[in-house]
Amino acid sequence: MRHLMSPLDFSVEELDKLLDIAQDIEANPAKYAHACEGKKLATLFYEPSTRTRLSHEAAMLNLGGSVMGFASADSSSASKGESVADTIRVISCYADICAMRHPKEGAPMVAAQHSSIPVINAGDGGHQHPTQTLTDLLTIKSLKGRLNNMTIGLCGDLKFGRTVHSLINALVRYEGIRFILISPEELRLPEYVRHDVLDRNNVPYEEVVRLEDALPELDILYMTRVQKERFFNEEDYVRMKDFYILDKQKMKLAPEDMYVLHPLPRVNEISVEVDDDPRAAYFHQAQCGVYVRMALILTLLDIHVD
Ligand code: NCD
Repeated sequence: MRHLMSPLDFSVEELDKLLDIAQDIEANPAKYAHACEGKKLATLFYEPSTRTRLSHEAAMLNLGGSVMGFASADSSSASKGESVADTIRVISCYADICAMRHPKEGAPMVAAQHSSIPVINAGDGGHQHPTQTLTDLLTIKSLKGRLNNMTIGLCGDLKFGRTVHSLINALVRYEGIRFILISPEELRLPEYVRHDVLDRNNVPYEEVVRLEDALPELDILYMTRVQKERFFNEEDYVRMKDFYILDKQKMKLAPEDMYVLHPLPRVNEISVEVDDDPRAAYFHQAQCGVYVRMALILTLLDIHVD
């Protein structure tokens, strides 16, 4: 049985295959409409979410399956003190596959160890967010036609942003990838990612503070929200939250074929005036999230559609 804890759980070849399935789903949705009939997805969300939970549910519903779950720890037995290990043993009796989001790093891994159904890590603290990474890869591939030979700007909260950590892990496996890490000093990419992932794989990167300096060089700009919930005090958050605001003026510095991605939710880091720019790809990205999660559910349940 397979789980998805990190994007590295799939080889590059397996990832390519998964993205191919996602693209086929986009082109031929009807072919997949009954692929998961009789199957149930449980969504166990101990931390708030809109897109990640609902896109997993939409994915299962699009495949003809059904869904159940909880959207906050307060409405589950976690509030009575039940452990993740016990919860997942029980859920294994009810569902065929589950997606779990948890504020504690490693909680979905504990669940996977006690589960008899595939577990998808839907975000664990500041650690990883592999299904967002699959979404990001599909989005980049659909816009650029490739995942190699690119300069990718990652901007905002690189310290606490789990989507950034997961995306870096996944992209270093492709040829010719270079990163520009754009963040305030306090929100720099953690040493364990910079050293263990970038340096160890000899991936070129630069760290800059000003977004304007990086923009002209980018193929992809990946904007992120300052992760309020992971700050230790309110003042630091308030000081950091509007550090970057991408607006029409700054977009003039970017190449014509540079796309803007954002895992969403956005707060102030992308001005709404950018939404009409043909390079704004974040809502397209949210749509890609459904196709890729459909492909993921099929892959983890070992269901083949031809
Ligand atoms: C991201 C997350 O939860 O880490 N959201 C998402 O899943 N699309 C990004 C964020 O919350 O900033």
